[in-house]
Amino acid sequence: MEQAALFTIFGGTGDLAQRKLYPSLFRLYRKGNLAKHFAVIGTARRPWSDEHYREVICETIKDLEPNESEKKEFASHFYYLSHDVNDSDHYDQLKALSDQLDEKYELQGNRLYYLAMAPQFFGTIVNHLKSQDIITTTGYNRLVIEKPFGFDYDSADKLNNQIRNVFPEQDIFRIDHYLGKEMIQNISVIRFANNIFESLWNNRYIENVQITFSEALGVEDRGGYYENSGALKDMVQNHILQVVALLAMEVPTSFSNQSIREEKVKVLQAIRRYESEEVLQNFVRGQYDTGTLDGKDFIAYRDEPKVAKDSLMETFVAGKFLIDNFRWSGVPFYVRTGKRMTEKGTRINIVFKQVPINVFNFEQEAAGKDLPQNILTIYIQPTEGFSLTLNGKKIGQGFKTEPVKLDFRQSAEVTENSPEAYEKLLLDALNGDSTNFSHWDEVANSWEIIDRIRHTWDQTTPGFPNYAAGTMGPQGAFDLLAKNGHEWAWQPDQWYRERGKLK
Ligand SMILES: NC(=O)c1ccc[n+]([C@@H]2O[C@H](COP(=O)([O-])OP(=O)(O)OC[C@H]3O[C@@H](n4cnc5c(N)ncnc54)[C@H](OP(=O)(O)O)[C@@H]3O)[C@@H](O)[C@H]2O)c1
Repeated sequence: MEQAALFTIFGGTGDLAQRKLYPSLFRLYRKGNLAKHFAVIGTARRPWSDEHYREVICETIKDLEPNESEKKEFASHFYYLSHDVNDSDHYDQLKALSDQLDEKYELQGNRLYYLAMAPQFFGTIVNHLKSQDIITTTGYNRLVIEKPFGFDYDSADKLNNQIRNVFPEQDIFRIDHYLGKEMIQNISVIRFANNIFESLWNNRYIENVQITFSEALGVEDRGGYYENSGALKDMVQNHILQVVALLAMEVPTSFSNQSIREEKVKVLQAIRRYESEEVLQNFVRGQYDTGTLDGKDFIAYRDEPKVAKDSLMETFVAGKFLIDNFRWSGVPFYVRTGKRMTEKGTRINIVFKQVPINVFNFEQEAAGKDLPQNILTIYIQPTEGFSLTLNGKKIGQGFKTEPVKLDFRQSAEVTENSPEAYEKLLLDALNGDSTNFSHWDEVANSWEIIDRIRHTWDQTTPGFPNYAAGTMGPQGAFDLLAKNGHEWAWQPDQWYRERGKLK
């Protein structure tokens, strides 16, 4: 259905706007969600004209192969305003243009403000939206903001108070783009639409849960940003804790954003708040050194551009969360994320408990050997799908067992044509549906958990670098599971080691 709205994109010349937002708006346009009644104002300091801005827009959608008239018509809805967000006078121009476009395109006062800028500007922008009367009284006014939401609990709380002075919580859409990903959304369907899983989804049947967000790339040109963030704040505080919440939450009474949020918040509240000693036992940090994988040499983090030669910033985190509630008591939720790891992959492994006795034990080669555990794997990216490992009978005489895998992967064609995370999230924001965004209560709880880890780490000096580029992190990340008798289900480094491609 066609939506009528004015988008004001602060940071309209930036990387996010060009790589993600404009192509996503174009896809919505192609599908008819945006048609005649929409307009976009891009603002930033660069002195661009409308014509130049439209040329940039056309360039950003080139890969989607629009035809000439489609491209021209789409780009004609874009307007540019050179504007320094700290300059109050400029907001008068923004108001005048917004009102003019509202009338021209019959937008019914519906406005969506997208802050695609560094977070230190958020407070100034929202205050001006109110003081300069840009917020309308007729339609809706929604604020979409990018991560990071603060750099610790206190800064996030301060930012939240500034924003909430202007926008009510239901009109604030805090982006966690992972929540727009197909397979992250599929977690709820796998759980709540399949009795075989949901009836086993607790500490009686699940031994541990493993969440991996690994990247093969290093920090590339983002060294400056990363030096102030690190893997813990960049990945665990937001994306990984959101996934933990989705995996661990109770069944919501209905699939509405309020019920889901309530259940996610309960999980985050039940995650054990570690004392310093527990942080040291349960969390491991790493930083990549030089390394060679499959004949390719990689430089160390400290040699990357814009990174300090003695940097103590972590490029890897592994940890164990414990959820102190009835369903999950005693089940470790292991998480790990890092840069320059063996392979890029986001996946979840649900490791089920062993059967009480292996009655086929007598047939195994090594007496006393346990059966491999059943594992449900949810593949989030780069491939999308899920698999279940079971034990089957080996063909032939006797009762030898062997693992078999039921495997489902979305076809490349389906994944290629499925909507991009940003496209889905923009449409959700247009529909006023905040299910796939982070509520303040979730952000606040996540920072409480993360601040304790960061604070403990800041008291000690790590022995960095401590893992070779191209590996799955430091030894400590493996020891973390081994001390509970567990191991990472996904170890892509083994494949390379067995073939002599990784030392
Ligand atoms: N890029 C991504 O893939 C990505 C992914 C996740 C989250 N994010 C988040 O999204 C936000 C934007 O990231 P980005 O990568 O797009 O950054 P970026 O490329 O540096 O863009 C920043 C934008 O802000 C504008 N700007 C800076 N200072 C300004 C001022 N005083 N007044 C008006 N405009 C100003 C810049 O334009 P001028 O220089 O022309 O003023 C530019 O358009 C950040 O919060 C980032 O953490 C980005």
